[in-house]
Amino acid sequence: MKVTAVAHTNIALIKYWGKRDEKLILPSNSSLSITLDKFFTETTFEWDDSQKKDVLVLNGVEREDAKVQRYLDVLRSEFGIASRAVIHSENHVPTAAGLASSASAFAALAVAASASLARNDSKMELSRLARLGSGSASRSIFGGLAIWQKGENTDGSDSYAVPFESELTNQLAVVVAIVSDQPKKISSRDGMKQTVQTSPFFGEWTKTAELDLELIKKAFAHSDFTQVGEILEHNAMKMHATTLSANPPFTYFSQESLLVMEAVRKLRADGIEAYFTMDAGPNVKIVCLKQDEEKVASRVEPLVGRVLICHAGEGAKVIQNENGN
Ligand code: PMV
Repeated sequence: MKVTAVAHTNIALIKYWGKRDEKLILPSNSSLSITLDKFFTETTFEWDDSQKKDVLVLNGVEREDAKVQRYLDVLRSEFGIASRAVIHSENHVPTAAGLASSASAFAALAVAASASLARNDSKMELSRLARLGSGSASRSIFGGLAIWQKGENTDGSDSYAVPFESELTNQLAVVVAIVSDQPKKISSRDGMKQTVQTSPFFGEWTKTAELDLELIKKAFAHSDFTQVGEILEHNAMKMHATTLSANPPFTYFSQESLLVMEAVRKLRADGIEAYFTMDAGPNVKIVCLKQDEEKVASRVEPLVGRVLICHAGEGAKVIQNENGN
């Protein structure tokens, strides 16, 4: 059956950084994210026995993609089928946003591939399946806040995301400062591997990330935005400290990223609560309350040229199937 699914990307407030199992994509620590409303992937998918090879059309152009190819093999083995897939995928990430789309891409693929077989997988099962494509995709199955539980089992059966409710979720804004639209120099996959293998701080990172998660959950439970902000900013900087301490060292910071961070500190000094986070690229995401989003955006925009204001988005879902539903 041909189905179309949509998934939104997410930004981690407590980062996933480092795998304990490369093949099964099992993380060294649990993480927490907010799914965003502005960036999403729409994927039309069909398992097709008449095809001799998998077909991937991305943004209108037929492509070979090793990561997607590997993922389709994983799904075939999970589902116990041999069929080839025909995929048409559109990334709705505003042009030049330079934001990673793997979270939304693999979440949409997992949901569509499962629905195409009418499997009725639970959300947790879909999250586990999405994880096998890209770790952060496990969290995009859910809207709002989601926690990817690292799990304990060696087979990954308990490593999936679960939703996390807070009254703060709908008061939050994420102002994305678009510093660069260039592809990342070091992918998250390679960057993590290098830090796991060589950073003397990696062990401390995983320990304190678990603690940060417990603290931010409490802060969300008390709707304490100041605490949430302080924890998320510190957590991001600890993650980036592992790249600076890797051997050879590397960084995702650019000059503009540092300027934006400084502007955020200045905003706080002026009494506007805003906190920054960064992932495996130079774009800076600023978390603030909706009531301050315009002030934050107008302060940061002159530094980078382009900002986008996002709010909490929805979880991944099927929007159409062949039966017209
Ligand atoms: O799932 P990946 O391989 O795109 O890794 C994501 C890593 C970070 O974005 C840096 C952190 C996170 O938790 O999303």
